[in-house]
Amino acid sequence: MGALMKILIATDKPFAKIAVDGIRTEIEAAGFELALLEKYTEKQQLLDAVADANAIIIRSDIIDAEVIAAAKELKIVVRAGAGYDNVDLEAATAAGVCVMNTPGQNSNAVAELVFGMLIYSARNFFNGTSGTELKGKRIGIHAYGNVGRNVARIAKGFEMEIFAYDAYCREEDIKADDVEPTCSVKTLYQDSEIVSVHIPSTPETKKSINRSLLDLLPKGATMVNTARKDVINEPELVEYMEANPGFKYITDIMPSNHEEMLQKFPTRYFSTPKKMGAQTSEANVNAGIAAAKQIVDFLVNGNDQFKVN
Ligand code: 3PG
Repeated sequence: MGALMKILIATDKPFAKIAVDGIRTEIEAAGFELALLEKYTEKQQLLDAVADANAIIIRSDIIDAEVIAAAKELKIVVRAGAGYDNVDLEAATAAGVCVMNTPGQNSNAVAELVFGMLIYSARNFFNGTSGTELKGKRIGIHAYGNVGRNVARIAKGFEMEIFAYDAYCREEDIKADDVEPTCSVKTLYQDSEIVSVHIPSTPETKKSINRSLLDLLPKGATMVNTARKDVINEPELVEYMEANPGFKYITDIMPSNHEEMLQKFPTRYFSTPKKMGAQTSEANVNAGIAAAKQIVDFLVNGNDQFKVN
């Protein structure tokens, strides 16, 4: 009998224990073996761990060409989450490795954090001064995918005016949720007192939130980013914030220029120390177990429904 298929969880930012236990149950029920690499500090640890793995479950962990090359037995990588910009799809495809994500599984967690951060910002980072409320404010949802939809659902409870723009989502889909579609990203920025960013990081979107887009915002606007840092043109964001003293930027993805932002805009800038959007036990369970099931279904039945490469 050959060696057991080895499924590796490689997470720099670990899942909640309940999620790891659930993944283990799925993997062992299929007759496979689970290995765990958490909180690794050196890339070499990842390179060593993937050497005999047939499948890997990751989060924002970087799977580049070197990792793919080191994983000689690898058949599938599942990003337990939405964005897969951390995986070198070309290298994976060239090596015959299937890459999947688990769309939608952590989107409520991210959307809830949007509102946690918005309240923290609207109440002046809890510094005791008089803040503002979300009720009645115009929120523009920049990209109407799984997270954007959940943001709209929660914004309704706050009685906000909700607008959305999505390059791929048809206007009818946005209208079906009782949300106002905007015809262009420019209109969205012109109309929104709060912009919630949900675009993925792709060659087209990198640095796309730039000075010319920010200049369209009304005075005193807030931007909340729970998507990716590299969709922001960071030097142009600094320029815009210097020219617009009422603008606030709050983010769940620490910018490269975090120290500069903190020093220049201590009352208008906030970043979580580590991306927290999907860091709930519910999201970990949803995304982690979905990843485990997708791996089993792929290895046993060849189902590649969530393949992205
Ligand atoms: C995602 O793309 O699913 C989110 O950014 C969550 O990323 P994380 O799993 O690293 O928290």
